[in-house]
Amino acid sequence: MTFSTKSIASWSIIVLILMQFVPLNRINPPASQKIQLPCIIQSSLKKACYDCHSYETQWPQIAYIAPASWLACSIVSSGRTALNFSTLKKNETRAPLLTTKIRNVVQKGSAHQPLYYLLKPEAQLSIKETNAVLQWLN
Ligand code: HEC
Repeated sequence: MTFSTKSIASWSIIVLILMQFVPLNRINPPASQKIQLPCIIQSSLKKACYDCHSYETQWPQIAYIAPASWLACSIVSSGRTALNFSTLKKNETRAPLLTTKIRNVVQKGSAHQPLYYLLKPEAQLSIKETNAVLQWLN
């Protein structure tokens, strides 16, 4: 059997179409807790972290097209598992282990963010916001 460019192309299109039917867990459950934080902290975290770390994810257009949607869903789901501001209880926001981890991510960044901030540069924290969050964590 020989594969012509044409048949490879048409098979690819069929596979791409079929991929769109894989069901995904692209949902935002209602947030059970709404933690109260100082205004600038809340808005900073919302802007830079909530898409992956809360139930208030704003899914981008690309999150509806496979296979990019698979990547988006898996990143958000592991992000929510690691830290979910929507299920965080009030007393947990000050837990030393968590604040240390958050401080690390805010200060040094982490492997999961660069692509996201590349696609959504406006989500990146400004220096002022970074300082405010760090100050609040201390
Ligand atoms: C593009 C999605 C995305 C964004 C945006 C994002 N994170 Fe994450 N975050 C993840 C994923 C995925 C993980 C789990 C895998 C890992 O640890 O790398 C994670 C893990 C973490 C952890 C746990 C690390 C540990 O050591 O257990 C903390 C804390 C964290 N993120 C804080 C933040 C903060 C604070 C922001 C905003 C400034 C943020 N993240 C923005 C996806 C994201």
